[in-house]
Amino acid sequence: MKKVGIGIIGGGLMGREMASAFARWCSLTDVEVMPELVAVADLVEPVREWFRCVPSCTQITADYHELLANPAVEVVYVAVPHNLHEKIYLDVLAAGKDLFAEKPFGIDLASAKRIAAACAGSGRFVRCSSEFPFLPGAQRVIAEAQSGKFGRILEIVSGFHHSSDLDATKAANWKRKSATCGEIGVLGDLGMHACHIPLRLGWKPARLFAQLQKGYPQRPDGKGGMATCDTWDNALLHTWTQIDGADVPLRLEMKRMAPGETNTWFIEVLGTNGGVRYSTKEPKTLWLFENGKEQFWKKTDLGFGMPFKAVTGGIFEPGFPDVIQQMWAAFLMERAGLLNGRFGCATQEEAVATQEIFAAALASQQNGSVVAL
Ligand SMILES: NC(=O)c1ccc[n+]([C@@H]2O[C@H](COP(=O)([O-])OP(=O)(O)OC[C@H]3O[C@@H](n4cnc5c(N)ncnc54)[C@H](O)[C@@H]3O)[C@@H](O)[C@H]2O)c1
Repeated sequence: MKKVGIGIIGGGLMGREMASAFARWCSLTDVEVMPELVAVADLVEPVREWFRCVPSCTQITADYHELLANPAVEVVYVAVPHNLHEKIYLDVLAAGKDLFAEKPFGIDLASAKRIAAACAGSGRFVRCSSEFPFLPGAQRVIAEAQSGKFGRILEIVSGFHHSSDLDATKAANWKRKSATCGEIGVLGDLGMHACHIPLRLGWKPARLFAQLQKGYPQRPDGKGGMATCDTWDNALLHTWTQIDGADVPLRLEMKRMAPGETNTWFIEVLGTNGGVRYSTKEPKTLWLFENGKEQFWKKTDLGFGMPFKAVTGGIFEPGFPDVIQQMWAAFLMERAGLLNGRFGCATQEEAVATQEIFAAALASQQNGSVVAL
C-alpha cells in the first residue's frame, strides 16, 4: 500500500475520530493507499497530548503554520470552528497541500464561494467531510432511488436529529454562538448531512420555505457563569425540487432539540410504484415499499455491505467509526484515481450548494417568504 502523509489541524472531537480510523486501516482489504498521521496542530495542550499515543505522529505543535511547512504532510484534514475555516483552508492550499475540509465549508455562502474559487485556482485535490452516505443503508437508498423502480417520485425527506440541547444544563460551546458557528447555526452544524444525498442524486431545491427556531438563550459557560447562545437550533426546510420535469416536495430537517434522538440520520424516498426508508435509529434495517393490489412495506437486515471491503464479517453491524474510515478510503482512493465508480466524498460544488440552501433558509425565515434558489 502506498502511504500518504496526513496532517490534522484541530485535534478535537473529529480530529481524534479521524486519527483512530487511520490506526485500524488494516481492516480494509481492497484499498491501495494508506493514511499515515504524521503531524497534528491544536491550540490546546491536553488535546495535543492525546496524539502522543500515535507513534507515526512525530510533529505535535500549537502552530498550524509549522505543520504546513512539513514536507511529509501531503494531505491536511481541518476540523476547527467555522469562523476559522476560510483562513486555514486557504493557507493549506497556498502551502501546496491537498485538503480534506470539514462542513459547512466556511462560515457562510460568501466564504464558501471564496474557498471554492481558491480550490479551483490551486489545482489541489479537495473534498468535504460527510460520512453517512457510506452506510450500507444509505448506499442502498441511493441505488434504489437511481433504479427507476419507484415510478413518479412523490416526496423525499432527509434529516439529522440531535437531542442533547434539550438539556438546559449542557454547557455552551462555539457551536452555539453565531460568531463562531455562523449565523446559519444548526444548518451549518447538521445541514450537509441532510443535503448530501439529495444533492448527489440531482435533487437541488429550486425554492424553499424555512421554519427556524432558537433554543435556550443562555447556557452555563463551564466556568461558573452563563453564556449567551444565539444560534438557530432547529430547522425545517420545506423545499421543491424538479424530478423528471415535475415539482417534488423535498423536506430537509436539522434539529438539535428533537426529543429522544441521540444522533438520528434518516432518509426516505417515496414514489408511486415503490419507496425506501432508512434511519440510523434502526441501523441494520432497510425498509422497501412495494405497490400492488396489496401494498407492502418489507424490511431486511443489512450486514457490513460497505463500498470498500473489510475483514469484518459480512453479518456484522457497521457504526460511526466504520463510515468515517470508509469516507477516508473514498477520499484517498479518488485522490489516487482509483475510486472506480464507488461513492465519492462531497465535492466543493456540493458544499457550496448546501450553503446556497442555508442562505435561502435565512432569507426565508427573515421575510416569512418562499425563496427561489
Ligand atoms: N463530519 C461530522 O460528522 C462532524 C461532526 C462534528 C463536527 N464536525 C465539523 O468538524 C469541525 C470541528 O468540529 P469538532 O466537533 O471537532 O470541534 P471541537 O471543538 O471538538 O474541536 C476543534 C478543535 O480545533 C482547535 N483549534 C481551534 N483553533 C485552532 C487553530 N487556530 N489552530 C489549531 N487548532 C485550533 C480547538 O482547540 C479544538 O481542539 C467543524 O467544522 C464541525 O462542523 C463534523
